[in-house]
Amino acid sequence: MSGIDTAFRIANNLRSNFAKVLLGKDFTVPLTAILGGGHILCTDVPGVGKTVFSKIIARSFGCTYSRLQCTADLLPSDIIGVNIYDQKRGEFEFKRGPIFSQILLADEISRATPKAQSALLECMEEHQVTVNGQTYPMNAPFLVIATQNPIEHEGTFPLPEAQLDRFMISLDIGYPDPQSECNMLTQQRLEHPLDSIAQIASAEELAQAQAEVRSVTVSSSITEYIVALVSFTRTSAHLSLGASPRGSQSLYRAAQALAAIQNRKYVIPDDVQMLAAAALQHRVIPKRRFDRALARQAIEEALSTIPVPTA
Ligand SMILES: Nc1ncnc2c1ncn2[C@@H]1O[C@H](COP(=O)(O)OP(=O)(O)O)[C@@H](O)[C@H]1O
Ligand SMILES: [Mg+2]
Repeated sequence: MSGIDTAFRIANNLRSNFAKVLLGKDFTVPLTAILGGGHILCTDVPGVGKTVFSKIIARSFGCTYSRLQCTADLLPSDIIGVNIYDQKRGEFEFKRGPIFSQILLADEISRATPKAQSALLECMEEHQVTVNGQTYPMNAPFLVIATQNPIEHEGTFPLPEAQLDRFMISLDIGYPDPQSECNMLTQQRLEHPLDSIAQIASAEELAQAQAEVRSVTVSSSITEYIVALVSFTRTSAHLSLGASPRGSQSLYRAAQALAAIQNRKYVIPDDVQMLAAAALQHRVIPKRRFDRALARQAIEEALSTIPVPTA
């Protein structure tokens, strides 16, 4: 079996870059998405470091970066790009949109119309886009970090579940504790720490790390455990819709990444338990819509009901 050295090293170095800039936060969950090769949905209030978080990732891998501010007048062509007629050459040329950045921050995604959202989410799923019969691949690692505001629903288009399902994990950064917030103020007095973090690996090395993560062993009892947890959400009294098979895939891959981050070549039940909420909570629909606590409660119940595999 191949090693997981690159994944382990990248995770450690990326974690320390996060810790230098965003104080008092644990970034294990998003590390599993980055190493697992999945997109991140960040549901959080303004000012808690979402933009900074996405920039740290881009800097850490020397990747191209764009921020897409989603608004009601955002068109699919603002995301994907447009064919422009070149008068001199007498032909059309494709001007690539922000979706071709290696790291894309899609800010306030629920303010975009369903049409723009689905253009974005199609690219996220397919890792390519076809314009006028010509197919263009996205640029690896092609990681999308989408943000949405948990309290703002007016004038927005909440993502339908089929689209929420495209995100590997959901991330809640949340407020820093008072001590970290004091440290933040002091640390940023003269300059922003983001300006001094270094690149830790190339996009190619990240691809190598992602391949290593896929080689992490998942026993059949752990695989069955994942499926049992996900199935449980489908019959939960708190939910009107449980998690999909794509949810199982995300939990499986994130658990592999968590094992690799800890320099372990096989998944243990702890990995699955630690990630169940992050991998599943955004793709289930609570009976009281938008009640995220109820979604988490259903997942907690799955964890406390389903027997933990012992071998
Ligand atoms: N936990 C934290 N540690 C250090 N700085 C933080 C933290 N949370 C927020 N900040 C700072 O707050 C400011 C706003 O962050 P930003 O990423 O623009 O927020 P958002 O995109 O979530 O609105 C930045 O200067 C960021 O460094
Ligand atoms: Mg922001």
